[in-house]
Amino acid sequence: MTAPLFITLEGIDGSGKSTQARLLAQALRDAGVAVTLTREPGGSPGAEAIRALLLTGDTGRWSPETEILLFFAARRDHLERVIRPALVAGQVVICDRFTDSTRMYQGATRGDLRGKVDALHDLMIGTDPDLTLIIDMDPALALARGLARAGAEQRFEDMGLPFQQKVRAGYLELARAEPARCTVIDGARPEADVAADIAGRVLARLDQ
Ligand code: ADP
Ligand code: TYD
Repeated sequence: MTAPLFITLEGIDGSGKSTQARLLAQALRDAGVAVTLTREPGGSPGAEAIRALLLTGDTGRWSPETEILLFFAARRDHLERVIRPALVAGQVVICDRFTDSTRMYQGATRGDLRGKVDALHDLMIGTDPDLTLIIDMDPALALARGLARAGAEQRFEDMGLPFQQKVRAGYLELARAEPARCTVIDGARPEADVAADIAGRVLARLDQ
């Protein structure tokens, strides 16, 4: 039995978040920890339906403001139906992206909407991660990894390299502003090295 812990993974597209979320969940389960592994946008049936609206279609499909509201609608459903119940049950929740993604992708890169994102988070979400792992790497390398996957869900990847560079800078700034919550992880290493680094940090945190 461990105390509930809410962990989020953040970083630019293709930095290895999904891979590392999966490997962390496996490492914790191997250590006997009850884990809920989930992701945003999505993670619950309603939020997955909203995900399809957000991640497909033209880059200009939604205004930044509409996009923020859709992300928060999805997040609220995910929080109510998946994240909160798992934390109440004493589990470790590993979530691939959360509000920091909205802060970076909508709040900082597409007009100065950060204040609105923070206000909506406080009003409608109000739950913050205990630990945020920011997987950091050169956007050119990450974008090449991401585009190699080439699926339909690449509206944000289609926004290009300068956009991803802004997102990366935003994440590094966030890590400086919130050092108690955020840890920067070098994502340009082999998968197993990144995974060992992350598992070591999280297991140490669970032992505290
Ligand atoms: P994200 O969720 O951040 O977009 P993924 O975990 O989906 O990233 O990884 C993007 C792509 O890069 C995938 O094809 C994955 O297999 C590959 N990948 C992930 N981590 C590494 C790594 N450390 N080194 C090389 N390739 C990686
Ligand atoms: P994700 O599936 O994690 O993509 P990737 O594996 O490429 O990192 O997220 C999909 C996209 O949604 C990603 O480009 C980032 C974007 N996004 C936002 O713009 N705002 C948000 O609040 C979230 C959660 C994601």
